[in-house]
Amino acid sequence: MPQVQEISAATLDTKGFIKEKAAEISQIVGTGVAINALSGGVDSSAVTMLGHMALQERLKTYFIDNGIMREGEPQFIASVFKKLGVNVEIIDAQDEFFNALKGIIDPEEKREAITQTFYKKVFGRLVKESGAKYLLQGTILTDIDETVAGIKRQHNVFEQLGIDPQEKFGYKIIEPLVQLRKDGVRKVAEATGLPASIFNRMPFPGPALSARVIGEATRERIALVRKATSILEAELASVKAFQYMAILHNDRVTGMRDNKREFGQQIEVRCWDSIDARQARPTRLDFGILEKLAARILSELPGVVSVTYNIATKPPSTMEAI
Ligand code: XMP
Repeated sequence: MPQVQEISAATLDTKGFIKEKAAEISQIVGTGVAINALSGGVDSSAVTMLGHMALQERLKTYFIDNGIMREGEPQFIASVFKKLGVNVEIIDAQDEFFNALKGIIDPEEKREAITQTFYKKVFGRLVKESGAKYLLQGTILTDIDETVAGIKRQHNVFEQLGIDPQEKFGYKIIEPLVQLRKDGVRKVAEATGLPASIFNRMPFPGPALSARVIGEATRERIALVRKATSILEAELASVKAFQYMAILHNDRVTGMRDNKREFGQQIEVRCWDSIDARQARPTRLDFGILEKLAARILSELPGVVSVTYNIATKPPSTMEAI
């Protein structure tokens, strides 16, 4: 397996990088068609812009609505890109993803179910319909590191695990950002004309809210963690942190509401300071912010009786809970 040559954010020649990668994409795809999945994260957004610079309308960009994204996400992202002249087609694949996730509680099996549904079922179909031979995607170096180290199999890593996408899914994958880490990608994203709401966006995992539900990711449990996420993102919006998240636990605990016992749900809040996600520390959040956040979660989410704040470091924790 060829070693990937890292380009640090400090040494990155952003303009030169963009020119070089756009030329590479043009050369590989030739006169053909490529497709890409935009999730709204900084990585896939940067790749979408690079791909459009290289291929214009010969790149078809899809937003796969897998049912496990944050509130209003597909429409928000499509509208951001529309302003930049990039047409994004939203594909409703919610049933396919929830069917694939049914009954699965193991974290890696969840990732695998999402991978198979995304790359084989949904993208297999889109590739056939569009006639594309290439999928452009925003894998970055940290994804590869953690996957190869066996910590978490990031759902977009194949070749480093000996998986040939052409053989397995019927198309080739182009990964223009693979030498960069998140800080480098943000520089590239900014230079391609994306707004700060995208290039400064917090990281969000490929398996989306299913990575924030411990145990089975049913429609109901995803809906609960989605609401907790909206409250948390609103309450922590002014906090400078690398990433924050709400997690729904599988275990229930005893609580009380209206003078009655309630064997209820637990939401865990995590908020991380980090440079590149390799190591992280819990943000020293103001206690008043935490109290307000907890009060909103407890009053707006029926059935939740516990809100905790995680104070472990990474390592030995990881940033996501599964
Ligand atoms: P961990 O949990 O491994 O997270 O400390 C490090 C960074 O990676 C993101 N993450 C993922 N991203 N697929 C992704 O695309 C995944 O399966 C996945 N797991 C974690 C996480 O949000 C954090 O920014």
